[in-house]
Amino acid sequence: MERSGALEALRCDMHSHLIPGIDDGSPDMETSIRLIQGLLQLGYKKIITTPHISGEFFPNNPEIIRAGLANVQEELRRQQIDVELHAAAEYLMDDSFSKKLSDGVPLLTLKDNMVLVELSFIVPAMNIKSLIFELQLKGYQPVLAHPERYLYFAANKDWYEQLRDAGCFFQLNLLSFAGYYGREAQQLAEWLAKKNFVEFLGSDMHHERHLEQLKNQAVIHRMADKLVDAGLIRNAEL
Ligand SMILES: [Fe+2]
Repeated sequence: MERSGALEALRCDMHSHLIPGIDDGSPDMETSIRLIQGLLQLGYKKIITTPHISGEFFPNNPEIIRAGLANVQEELRRQQIDVELHAAAEYLMDDSFSKKLSDGVPLLTLKDNMVLVELSFIVPAMNIKSLIFELQLKGYQPVLAHPERYLYFAANKDWYEQLRDAGCFFQLNLLSFAGYYGREAQQLAEWLAKKNFVEFLGSDMHHERHLEQLKNQAVIHRMADKLVDAGLIRNAEL
């Protein structure tokens, strides 16, 4: 059931793809504005949108992202839509990412030193722990996007413990609690939440279908409230 303000407790959404035409998210300005209005109806006050950056598919950089952000901000002003919109990035931890780290290229952060990173959905990265370590050595705090969606971890949940021990923050996707990415991702999200392995909740919004689910799946609203009440969730600090 659609409930306006249902995700108000989170205050800030820190994972989405709302800059038009630069990744697999919103294709045009009209869609971006509609999706942003949808987030506002859900009760969010602030949005940090996070375009993909990867070597192969989405070779974005801070200049491209800042220019796209400025366009969206201008359109929001023109339409007198009141929202605090910022941009960071979702970095795929691929070879180009590791090169950026070794070259000392400054990364876009959610806030302070927090960097949103993702892994391949298909192939487990062999060097994940050394990449996390290198990120920390450069002074960054890694925030792993949707850990519940790397299904290869299901067979060996010890990986999660190791990443937590290494100091990694976890960002779960709200849609996972509604089974949007399948039963296994849902179970992993529930397991991670139960273990308190979560600091952030994100919409990971790419398109209207995501927005519909965020509005209509009561289980998402319940889980968000429950995890916020438990004092685990740091979205509002961003
Ligand atoms: Fe994403």
